[in-house]
Order: sequence, then C-alpha cells, then structure tokens
Amino acid sequence: TRIEKAGYKHFMAKEIAEQPVVLADALRHYVQDQHLNLPVDFTGVDRLTMVACGTASYACHVAKYWFEQLAGLPVEVDIASEFRYREPPLSPTSWALFVSQSGETADTLAALRYAKEKVAKIVSVVNVPTSSIARESDLALPILAGVEVGVASTKAFTCQLTVLALLALKAAVDRGRLDADGLAKHLADLASLPGLMNHALGGGDYPEIAEELAEAQDILFLGRGSMFPIALEGALKLKECSYIHAEGYASGELKHGPIALIDARVPVIVMAPRDALFDKTVSNMQEVMARHGRVLLISDAQGVAEAGSGCWRTLTMPQAPDFLAPILYALPAQLLAYHTAIAKGTDVDQPRNLAKSVTVE
Ligand code: G6P
Repeated sequence: TRIEKAGYKHFMAKEIAEQPVVLADALRHYVQDQHLNLPVDFTGVDRLTMVACGTASYACHVAKYWFEQLAGLPVEVDIASEFRYREPPLSPTSWALFVSQSGETADTLAALRYAKEKVAKIVSVVNVPTSSIARESDLALPILAGVEVGVASTKAFTCQLTVLALLALKAAVDRGRLDADGLAKHLADLASLPGLMNHALGGGDYPEIAEELAEAQDILFLGRGSMFPIALEGALKLKECSYIHAEGYASGELKHGPIALIDARVPVIVMAPRDALFDKTVSNMQEVMARHGRVLLISDAQGVAEAGSGCWRTLTMPQAPDFLAPILYALPAQLLAYHTAIAKGTDVDQPRNLAKSVTVE
C-alpha cells in the first residue's frame, strides 16, 4: 500500500502526530491484563550491551538509565561503527541488544554478527520485522510504529523507547527488583502516555519560537539524567532538519566547555522536568542566563512556575512520571526541529546528504 501524507504537509508532521496512536498499539501488543507479553527471561543475565546508530543509539542511551535504575542491570551502550571495530570482549552470560528502525543499517548488522557467537542471546528492537537484523537475531521485538517515511526518525524513536521501557520492566521483574504492584503502577503510567502525548502535541507556540531559532548559528540543548540523551536527540534532529549547528550536552558538563560559546546570540534549550535533578539543571541554566544566553526552558507547569522567570521562552509540558519523561520530552525536540526547518525552508522529509537507511558503510 502506498503511504500518503493524509492531509499533512510533510511526512515528518504526520509521523509526529501519529505517535499517540502507534505507541498505544505497541502497548496493546506487549501488555495484556497487567502482564508483560515479552518472551524473555533476564534471570542470570549479568550485562546488557546495546548497539545502534543515530537516533536509535539515543534510545539505547535512555534505556541504559532504565535498566540500571529499575533492574540494577549493568548496561553498556555503543554506536555500531565503533563497536564493530574495537572488538570488545563480551561475556557469554551477557545479552546483546540491537536497535534499528530499518533493520538494515550496515554497521549495526555487522555489530550483531560480531556479537553472535559471543553472547548468550541476541535481541533486536526493529520496525521492519522482515529485516536482516530481525532475521539474524535470536529474538526480534517489533516496535509497531508503522512505515516511517521521513528521513529524520520520530515515531520510531518513541516506539523504540516504549519497547525498551517494557524490556527494562521485564528485567526488573525477573531480577526480583519489582513486585506485581510496582509493575502495575509502571504499566498504568505507560498507559497514560498516549494521552499525555496528545496534550503535548496540542500546545506550545512552536512556529513563533522556530522563527527566532532559525536566525541562530548555533543552538545548545542541555539535559541531565535520562533527559541528557533527549538533549542529544534534540540537537541531532535540529541539525538534520534545519542545517543549524546544534549540540546536546549533559547539563553538568556545561562548565567544561560549552559555556565558552554562550552569548546573547546562542539559544540554549533546557529540557528539565521537575524531577530529582531539576534544581541542579536550573542552576546550570542560571549560569547560562548570567552570560546573557537565551534560554528556552522546557518543563512542566510547576517547573516553569519555579524557574521560568528570566527565560527567553518557556514550553509547558504535561506533568509526567519521571520514568517516562524522556519519551514525552522527545516530542518538543521533534517539533522544534520540524518548525525550525519550515522557517528555514529546508526539505524536511528529505534533508540534503542524508539517507533513511544507511546500508553501506
Ligand atoms: C540514518 C537515519 C536516522 C537513523 C539511523 C539509524 O542515519 O537517517 O534517522 O536513526 O540511520 O537507522 P536505523 O534504521 O538503524 O534505526
């Protein structure tokens, strides 16, 4: 069947808007009657090595926080082009997990083949269930995002995150870290995500903010904890779509370099839900403002009320459980990239020099 834009100007806009629906599909597939429908057992697994490229690698970075915090399982994350050549030692009691929208990325496939005889199990999280990566895995978990046409990955990213969150919960249960009540609470939180996403997609003055971002030469994204990989993803998406130089940084690293770039011309996008690390991120944000950096604070209503004064702009997100905030905050990252690309007049669905699937090295 031919995939149409269904009234949207671009596939990217359509795919951003589809996220609440496809994410609900993925949840229905993997969660039934308060049980996780995942044919894996993490008992005895001592380490997880996660490998991917591009946006999929940022999904792995978010998942590392989840596997470590919820399941106490040590995780290593690497990009496939590095992993495959550094020939890392892998323990026979570990698992390797590969994340790929297309399932055909050459470096990720080569990394999978490298890990094949060395680890106990090869698991993949893919959007294309018939792909090479899916076929060569011991277990392939589909993300059920539907066909993604826009080169810049959007709905595949949030569906990857959702499947990885469910896997982290399964690991937590198998490793005795999460009882039935705890699981039920996290599953209820996950079930609320599509609604929170609808809410997030409905708000925000993105076109107006984007008009101003489009004037910038450099843009910084800051985040802490599981919001750090979302800052990386925000910067990647923005540079891919708008061709503006953007960098994502862990807030705590600000003083170790990027603070030298701050002046009144550099917008700094701070992704800071009101979680346990909020005050620390806000203090980094104030260091930026003291140097006349233009801060766009993305937080929930309470965070914006507490720390929004003096910011150049704010975007208010619905209140979300800490565990799931990275999935929700992926949306403003996508929308900023999309609208800035529109303001710049670039080819959003097919940015120059990029390919949807990189099947050659
Ligand atoms: C390309 C695409 C990205 C994608 C990356 C990994 O760079 O433009 O959107 O994140 O490849 O692709 P995969 O299909 O393995 O997820």
